[in-house]
Amino acid sequence: MAKPTAVFMCSSCGNEFSKWSGRCPACGEWNTITEVTSLTRAPRSSKHGSSITPEPKTPTSALSDNTFSSFPTNIPELDRVLGEGITSAGVFLLAGQPGIGKSTLLTQLAISLKPTAKKTQNQNEQILYICSEETSSQVSKRISRLSTQNTNTDHIQLLDTSCIENIYDHLQKHPHYKLIIIDSIQSVYTNTENSTAGSIVQIKTSANLLIQLAKTTSIPIILVGHVTKSGTIAGPKLLEHMVDAVFQLEGDRHHDLRLLRSIKNRFGPTDETGIFQMTSSGLTSVTDPNLLFDSSITKGAPGSAKTIIMEGTRPMLAEIQALTVSSEIPIPRRVAQGIPISKLQLICAILQKHKHLRLGQYDVFVNVTSGISIKEPAADLAIALAILSSYKNKPLSPKSIAIGELGLLGEVRAVPFLDKRLKQAKALGHTNPITSKNTPHLKQFKL
Ligand code: TYD
Ligand code: MG
Repeated sequence: MAKPTAVFMCSSCGNEFSKWSGRCPACGEWNTITEVTSLTRAPRSSKHGSSITPEPKTPTSALSDNTFSSFPTNIPELDRVLGEGITSAGVFLLAGQPGIGKSTLLTQLAISLKPTAKKTQNQNEQILYICSEETSSQVSKRISRLSTQNTNTDHIQLLDTSCIENIYDHLQKHPHYKLIIIDSIQSVYTNTENSTAGSIVQIKTSANLLIQLAKTTSIPIILVGHVTKSGTIAGPKLLEHMVDAVFQLEGDRHHDLRLLRSIKNRFGPTDETGIFQMTSSGLTSVTDPNLLFDSSITKGAPGSAKTIIMEGTRPMLAEIQALTVSSEIPIPRRVAQGIPISKLQLICAILQKHKHLRLGQYDVFVNVTSGISIKEPAADLAIALAILSSYKNKPLSPKSIAIGELGLLGEVRAVPFLDKRLKQAKALGHTNPITSKNTPHLKQFKL
């Protein structure tokens, strides 16, 4: 029997080392290397991959025996993000915080891939749903909840297991599936490793085995991945490098808007965002996100500013609300929801310097309505004007729309896709744009 060897692994990049060090030599992160259970490397069984040495090919010959094909999901917003649809032999990672709707989306996907009447008996049309986090009865309850009464869902096969070897064994007997869904990668394990499910070693090895499975059988696999509190995908960063595409389902659990963002996609573009609304009958695709927002309540109220953000290639109206109140504590509060706190601090400093607002004596609260989070700088101007409007207790013109990035010197900078944003704003009745063209400096804005 092989002697167990100590192995150290970096929890950030997943690289393995023979000795411990404070800083990972591969990714440079500090305090991420820990000793993982002594591993006795299992001999590579031919079951988990072919030992035949492949012959080199020219690009033309590689293309000619390419059996890759894609199929659409029939969910418009999911297809938009996937680009080509689901590609055979592809491994996709769907990440998101607990309760955001990952299992709901994948259950709807499995239902929507219902074969046509002619192909019902065809085994190649079946979907294998690995229930490792929930039991098959829980998943089947969700299936019946999300499918309409007369929908036939017999093409979905639920397999109650968390063991990768069981999945391999099952696929040896039934190698015909249209798609395999694994819910989730953090809850499956392989017998070749001693550590518990969810550990870095298990995630890395299990993902590796599943990728091999997809490549050898040509069946596409979707893995569900958890996201930690800080917003990163739980498990080694390596997981994101290993798979073909990474999608993240985002949103605020207290609101019904859900955004599906593409972080990496080897089969299509990453500049598209899928927009969904969580309803009692699951996630519904939203083709025109601007219809979701009813801003009539806040029209004419001080502290509200509208902007147009880009969600993928689509312009979307967003409302920024600010509240400034005189502070009763020595260090006034800065509270931000939907924008980073550092951005709020920066904009407060710019307003103090260039608009002479005495924000040092005020608590400032900023919120982006509908649970959206904005990362792009194009919303800077709207944030500043919302704060200014609340501070002066004067509303902005209801037809105004603020689009621009703020520089430290108080200058308003141009942003990409301005024409597209303005066109959308106009369509929504916001005919009074405030941009770098008519307001090159914050000082020039009068309220
Ligand atoms: P779920 O898909 O289980 O989340 P995840 O797999 O990401 O952890 O979704 C959980 C939430 O979605 C749950 O709080 C209830 C809500 N939900 C609806 O609002 N409508 C529905 O039709 C379904 C199935 C779930
Ligand atoms: Mg789930």
